[in-house]
Amino acid sequence: MDISTVGVVGCGLMGSGIAETAAKSGFDVVIREVNDDFLEAGRKRIQKSMDRAVDKEKLTAEDRDAAMARLSFTTAVSDLAKCDIVIEAIVEELAAKNELFGELDGLCGPGTIFASNTSSLTITDMAAATERPDRFVGLHFFNPVPVMKLVEVVRTIATSEETFDRAHAFSKALGKVPIAAKDNSGFVVNLLLVPYMLDAIRQLERGVATIADIDTGMALGCGHPMGPFTLCDFVGIDTLYKISEIMYDEYREERYAPPPLLKRIVAMGRFGRKSGKGFYDWSGEKPVPLPI
Ligand code: CAA
Ligand code: NAD
Repeated sequence: MDISTVGVVGCGLMGSGIAETAAKSGFDVVIREVNDDFLEAGRKRIQKSMDRAVDKEKLTAEDRDAAMARLSFTTAVSDLAKCDIVIEAIVEELAAKNELFGELDGLCGPGTIFASNTSSLTITDMAAATERPDRFVGLHFFNPVPVMKLVEVVRTIATSEETFDRAHAFSKALGKVPIAAKDNSGFVVNLLLVPYMLDAIRQLERGVATIADIDTGMALGCGHPMGPFTLCDFVGIDTLYKISEIMYDEYREERYAPPPLLKRIVAMGRFGRKSGKGFYDWSGEKPVPLPI
């Protein structure tokens, strides 16, 4: 493995999980956020997740402390210059991602691989805006990253064989199971999963059943670990809305179109579990479905 220092940009739900996983796997990790408050919130999320693993006896306190010591936190993009791979996990907006990669392109050495954790944008749209499309891949992790085993390794028509192999080996070194995906919006999993979540919202709009009953239906009827509305709240309603807009824009197929109810919930600032409210109220011990 010729990768030793990993850059992670964005320390929200996904970035914090990716950084935690990389540090636990022995990599030095540099995490960049937009300001100190977001940086501290991300650091706390990582600490809490590792403490939980120690409580569950999946990690020793010694290994947790060693992993925490491998993490460094910054608001300066220039601190990512020395990384062997930079994984971007910021908001699902092409302009924001391209601005970041443009800046990184001028800072990082020629050996640095750029990777995006995007859910729905194409890697091509980011890679083509840099001077290193051959050293650009998608590394699509799943939420919660410390638990979910899959990584989609995505190559564009310009990704070099060497870059793909390095990214694939890196995913394995993180203890993940990589699958190779073509660079189409939604890759493999979201192409199937996103219409399913959107269909659940449309079912709710039609008054077919309640939030709780639809969730119970899919959990107990199909053996899913959580129903679609709990999953929407886990993913983030704002993120799901952006994903839906991007996939609809790409395919112009109704099944990717954001249902109006999704838009209304975002407008109300109910972004899911991370903001305390989404389809459920997460403030108590158990999630409580909210009126729709
Ligand atoms: N961080 C670290 N560990 C966590 C965790 C977190 N955020 N959440 C749960 N865990 C661990 C727990 O410690 C526990 O470990 P043990 O079983 O070894 O004790 C295990 O995961 C199960 O947790 P719980 O018993 O607390 O809860 P659960 O059985 O309900 O499982 C879950 C939680 C793993 C999240 C499970 O409900 C699940 O798999 N849900 C579906 C998740 C999913 O579909 N993710 C994909 C989202 S889509 C996506 O990511 C792509 C995109 O682009 C939008
Ligand atoms: P999030 O809202 O939890 O976190 C995004 C973070 O990025 C925020 O903390 C924000 O401050 C930060 N940020 C924004 N611009 C930045 C910049 N220029 N530099 C550094 N930090 C910046 O979002 P998330 O759920 O972690 O999603 C991040 C990415 O991962 C998105 O592209 C999303 O589509 C993708 N993704 C999400 C999931 C999921 O289930 N939520 C799963 C797989 C992939």
